[in-house]
Amino acid sequence: MKNTLISAAIGATIFVSPIVNAYQSGDVIVRAGVTSVQPNDSVTGTLKTLNAGVGSDAQLGLTATYMFSDKFGVELLAATPFKHKITANGNKIGETKQLPPTLSLQYYPMGAGSAYQPYLGVGLNYTAFFDEKSSLGELKLDDSWGASVQAGIDYQINDHMLLNTAVWYIDIDSDAKLNGANIGSVSVDPWVYMMGIGYKF
Ligand code: NI
Repeated sequence: MKNTLISAAIGATIFVSPIVNAYQSGDVIVRAGVTSVQPNDSVTGTLKTLNAGVGSDAQLGLTATYMFSDKFGVELLAATPFKHKITANGNKIGETKQLPPTLSLQYYPMGAGSAYQPYLGVGLNYTAFFDEKSSLGELKLDDSWGASVQAGIDYQINDHMLLNTAVWYIDIDSDAKLNGANIGSVSVDPWVYMMGIGYKF
């Protein structure tokens, strides 16, 4: 009986023992998941008169982190193109696609030995708008450069597989032109949510 209990205890200890070297310098962590861009939008100029707004969209997001030390990494966020509805007083007047690649410096405070790897990041975003369309005329949105902040967490299922969830706040601002005339600026400034799986190489 005693031996059985000891065996069970040892078995349980092995089962729940933390993964050693969870993250360390040189690791590459690739993540994929559903990624939702939810604009926190505001507009100026003619767009404000139109009470213009920007809709949300979800796409496949991909991130890759390279750990250049045990606690710091650089991450690139990429995605399939997001498509946003553009509205005036709630009615659709157009749409645009965009790609928001974001490069972040990340801090992983837990270090090696933890299956949970929360992280914080600060970064630089470049957003390219393309395929703009509008029923009002020829719409053009300028590309945007801005800062981003991020928080996320990985949970390692085993040595390679992990679950991930992350959130970014990204400063995305664009000037809009209709038939060549300036019609105001758009602050998209979205929250970006990602939930998915990952693989550590
Ligand atoms: Ni902004």
